[in-house]
Amino acid sequence: MTLVRQHLIDPEICIRCNTCEETCPTHAIVHDANNYVVKHEVCNWCGDCFTPCPTGAINGVRMVSTPWSLDDQFGFTSLPPDATPEEGGIEMPAEVARLAAIATAGEGGTVVAPRSAPKAVVNLFTPDNPAIATCTGNMRLTDPDATSDIRHIVLDFGQTVFPVVEGQSIGIVPPGVDERGRPHLLRLYSVASPRDGERPGYNNLALTVKRVVREDNGARKLGVGSNYVCDLERGAQVKVTGPYGTTFLMPDDREANIVMVCTGTGSAPFRGMTERRRRHMKDVPGRLLLFFGARSRGELPYFGPLMKLPKSLIDVELALSREAGQPKRYVQDAMRDRADDLAALLRSDKTHVYICGLKGMEDGCREALAKICGDHGMAWAEEWERMRGEGRFHIETY
Ligand code: A2P
Repeated sequence: MTLVRQHLIDPEICIRCNTCEETCPTHAIVHDANNYVVKHEVCNWCGDCFTPCPTGAINGVRMVSTPWSLDDQFGFTSLPPDATPEEGGIEMPAEVARLAAIATAGEGGTVVAPRSAPKAVVNLFTPDNPAIATCTGNMRLTDPDATSDIRHIVLDFGQTVFPVVEGQSIGIVPPGVDERGRPHLLRLYSVASPRDGERPGYNNLALTVKRVVREDNGARKLGVGSNYVCDLERGAQVKVTGPYGTTFLMPDDREANIVMVCTGTGSAPFRGMTERRRRHMKDVPGRLLLFFGARSRGELPYFGPLMKLPKSLIDVELALSREAGQPKRYVQDAMRDRADDLAALLRSDKTHVYICGLKGMEDGCREALAKICGDHGMAWAEEWERMRGEGRFHIETY
């Protein structure tokens, strides 16, 4: 019997974050209200979707005699087994094993964690078996008259072990059901505190969450997850899944230079990384350089505390796009203004670049980096390839 390899997505681990569907260059991944699935005849095994998956659910490679149809996959509640030995054996061909391994191990050319990053634990808690945390803090970070309501949320895990390191995310399951009567899917949020918690010695973590309000045919629509989190009262019990993320992690190397580029709530992982350095790695040789974009000072989360951090710890460049009396400035403009500094940092193989925030800024940041390299005698395409292969270039946008 002839067996074919089929790419499937594990519905038990998948958190329905849509990353794979967005990443797939051939549009082989689609979803219904139940599952994310792969069109067998369209998937070309490029592997692009493997590393961005925060949970490894994408890693469902099976050897089958007849490929599962889309309808079969929409109905899956768990992954089917491989073909049996009687049907021709279950040994994975080397190529399939290689693709399957990318999600966890990484290899040259794919996204990998920095070599000195701590080992990140993932998938300890699932929607069916969530950790229960208690909200112990909910503070507005943006000015009272700012258009965006961005909040600092603190979750305490009590006696539950919930290990996270800088750069990881957690899932929150909003209570109740959607319009079809099904439980809400979980929402992903980056952790904004370092590995020893928002308050050292306490088993807690912080999130930076923006209340989502959309205009839909003239009606105001509130984002289910963000509004649930932004309205949490102290003492409220929250269902938490994860932790997630194995690549967007902070190097533990004292000599590592960390260039951080963010807009709005994309600052969350960088707050965690900066706090880690401030608490435990204050006088290290590695530099921190932050490019932070927001509409105005009042719309920039953590503006006050950020401005109080010493220059010796972190070099901060704000890019304000709607500040009264100032020209519009984006993070990529700020990067170009610091071209010489960035070029000097990019020459060092101790430099790591992280970009987090609006999807729209991705191209602008890449173009700025390419121009800076070009103007300083470096080839960005080569630098980028090398940095990515060494776990020194990371992008997380939404
Ligand atoms: P803008 O004033 O043009 O909206 P937001 O407040 O919507 O989360 O956005 C955060 C910041 O990111 C704002 O200053 C916003 O500017 C800016 N921004 C929007 N689009 C881009 C882009 N393509 N590249 C860089 N920054 C952007």
